[in-house]
Amino acid sequence: MKFFIDTANLDEIREAYDLGVLDGVTTNPSLMAKEGITGEANIRAHYKAICDIVDDNVSAEVISTDFAGMIREAEELVTIDDKIVVKIPMIKDGIKAIKYLSDEGIRTNCTLVFSAGQALLAAKAGATYLSPFIGRLDDISSDGLQLIAQIVDIYDNYGFETEVLAASIRHTMHLVECAEIGADVVTCPLKVITGLLKHPLTDSGLEQFLADYKKGNG
Ligand code: G3P
Repeated sequence: MKFFIDTANLDEIREAYDLGVLDGVTTNPSLMAKEGITGEANIRAHYKAICDIVDDNVSAEVISTDFAGMIREAEELVTIDDKIVVKIPMIKDGIKAIKYLSDEGIRTNCTLVFSAGQALLAAKAGATYLSPFIGRLDDISSDGLQLIAQIVDIYDNYGFETEVLAASIRHTMHLVECAEIGADVVTCPLKVITGLLKHPLTDSGLEQFLADYKKGNG
């Protein structure tokens, strides 16, 4: 299972990478804006800075919504670094763009996915990654994890190579349940990754071990 971090914050990306378990980064226009990254040149430089931290898989999202614009942006984004994966929205022209880019050997991440039907289309178009947003489904009283399970089943039925990248992950149990279901990738905030470390019995057990050592060794 791959772990991606869902942020454009360089310190958080470095911290997750230093932990030794990070396989990639996902960004989106909202995450870039949150870091105050605006203007084409700055956005490009920021993607490069992210690529310089991690080993591979840096998702950079297009902002065009028409086929020609998406292709133009995608071809420009991949010149930044070989680690770039082009994030394309799940819309009609997005599917056409994914098919075109896939035929060109350019990796894509199909984003804003909320249904199994959309997942099927993206896989047929040859998306490298598929990003269903589970937290946003839960927010509207739908079941995000059930969608992940449904997509994993469908992809298994036909041997689709598109990797299921569970996104919009809000807490550690989302991540653990995605692992049980068999999602290929999770992308989540740093606090969800570091949240996996926590258990009170680990803390109290370590405290006891250290106290006992101190008693015997001064
Ligand atoms: O990268 C997109 C996705 O993970 C969004 O998450 O928390 O804005 O629903 P969120």
